Amino acid sequence: MKKLLIMLTPAAILFSAAPFATAQESQTSSSPTVDMAKGLSEWDKIYAVFSHPRCADCHVADDRPRWSGAHYGATRVHAFNVQRGTDESGFGNPGLRCTTCHFSSNSNALHGPPGAEGWHLAPAEMAWFGKSSAEICAQIKDPARNGNRKLADVALHVRDDKLVAWGWAPGSDREPAPGSAEATYQAIENWMAAGSPCPMP
Ligand code: HEC
Ligand code: HEC
Repeated sequence: MKKLLIMLTPAAILFSAAPFATAQESQTSSSPTVDMAKGLSEWDKIYAVFSHPRCADCHVADDRPRWSGAHYGATRVHAFNVQRGTDESGFGNPGLRCTTCHFSSNSNALHGPPGAEGWHLAPAEMAWFGKSSAEICAQIKDPARNGNRKLADVALHVRDDKLVAWGWAPGSDREPAPGSAEATYQAIENWMAAGSPCPMP
């Protein structure tokens, strides 16, 4: 009788514990499989992209997209009193939508409006502008603030989305985000495999 129990128990534990372990690994940083050194070095690459002006200038907590970097001569709120929009859509106020000026591709003129399909601000809860590495990391991992995405979906968004792609082809003499969409997608995959740790606040 005792022998039978010993034979059954490990299998039973494996079956009941497996789905639980998978769910934990993908979402929490306290999983025992976290490789801190590897994970944090991958996160640094991701942070360098997300915090770059070509990404962060559209990911703001308030209602004003930003212009920042050498091309703009300073960091400032977007000219022309551009706003998120009274309807909170991110497409601007009804009288002055983003798409009044931003088309589906970049203007070739120096200081002409850049473009990509569906140009609009990210929702306020997805804010990175002026945020720390730890704050951005926590936001990316929080389904309540990342558009209800699993990390694997965040990675796919970075690889495939057209507004994200613009960050590496911003036109005129704007500095592109570091690396590439594919390299950033890979960094997120590697970060997830290392347990997706976040830096200390
Ligand atoms: C023109 C504005 C704009 C630019 C530029 C932009 N984004 Fe976004 N971003 C958005 C919008 C709008 C959403 C919300 C889309 C959704 O949830 O479907 C979003 C959502 C995201 C998300 C998913 C939500 C989250 O917070 O995890 C990621 C990841 C992301 N952007 C990455 C980037 C990266 C990386 C860059 C630069 C290479 C970038 N974005 C540049 C507008 C922009
Ligand atoms: C009246 C025209 C106009 C409207 C409306 C407008 N923009 Fe712009 N936007 C511009 C121009 C022009 C530039 C480029 C300025 C330059 O290169 O000096 C620009 C640049 C940008 C940039 C690039 C900043 C960077 O990091 O390189 C972002 C982001 C941006 N706009 C977001 C928006 C969003 C979001 C909306 C709507 C809520 C919007 N804009 C509405 C004219 C406009």
